[in-house]
Amino acid sequence: MIPNQWYAVLEGRKLRHKPAGLARLGKQIVLWRDAEGQARAALDRCPHRGAQPSQGKVVDGDLQCPWHGFRFGTDGVCTRMPCEGSDARIPRGMELQMLPAREAHGLVWVFHGPGDPAGTPIHWFDEFADGVRGTAGTSFDWPFNYVRTLESNFDVHHFPFVHGGGRVSGERVDINEFTEEESHIRFRGQLRHEDKEEGLAFRIEYKPPAQTLLEFPGFVFVVADCPVDDGNTWRYARYLQTLTRIPGVSSLLSWFAVQVDLRLFQNRQDGWVMSTQHPNRPDGAIEHLVAADAGTAAFKNLRQRLIREAEGSVEGS
Ligand code: FES
Ligand SMILES: [Fe+2]
Repeated sequence: MIPNQWYAVLEGRKLRHKPAGLARLGKQIVLWRDAEGQARAALDRCPHRGAQPSQGKVVDGDLQCPWHGFRFGTDGVCTRMPCEGSDARIPRGMELQMLPAREAHGLVWVFHGPGDPAGTPIHWFDEFADGVRGTAGTSFDWPFNYVRTLESNFDVHHFPFVHGGGRVSGERVDINEFTEEESHIRFRGQLRHEDKEEGLAFRIEYKPPAQTLLEFPGFVFVVADCPVDDGNTWRYARYLQTLTRIPGVSSLLSWFAVQVDLRLFQNRQDGWVMSTQHPNRPDGAIEHLVAADAGTAAFKNLRQRLIREAEGSVEGS
């Protein structure tokens, strides 16, 4: 994982009155909403006897453990130990291990440290700014390492083979307008028939740790990937069709794009071929990237640089 970044962990609309227990970032996490409706996150382990507070409930904005009813406030500190009486002194250490959490762009984000969460922005794309209408989104679990799922976002040359569109799109990739600024990778290109000048245009952008924007004729979508553990990834995707701005039609077409792309293309077709990819964890794998893999190569390099920077080592050492 790239340290010192905010990772999307859940759609905000799915965090309601009950606490949510999630496997994310190699940890068991509990999310809940405090009395102000603000999202809070902690490791999902009660400091009393180790039960999962996510199985309990939220009472007056505090999280109540299901086993002995101990409650924990927004800072994680125990506020009530019913078995000890209301005048009990709360012992030191009787607190949840809190994780920095924020809510933005319809998602709950958790910071993966050890750096400064307040000084680290959540990277997003203007196409999906708050208030943009006619979008449709969903999320699903993918049994692959998150670096592999991210790499799949930069890969258009599998389309004709995996998604069966070769006769329409052609097989050859031209990449142009490739730019890298700080932590932002952008490129455009097209997939075309060898004997034709023009083909299927695409635009791809990446911002760390795991947000990717992809645009094709007719629709644009954003993907946010979060590692569950070494071999699994939670993927969120939000689509916006760009053919019409008629409100109801727009939402319907975006929803249709979600169904076709996520359920058929990504989950079934990409998922099948990725299940044959070895090793699933890419670090140390010997691969021979070609020019069409420019996005994947740039992502790999940027990821390594950000990891090195987070570790405080000198670049290139
Ligand atoms: S284990 Fe949570 S209150 Fe006892
Ligand atoms: Fe695909």
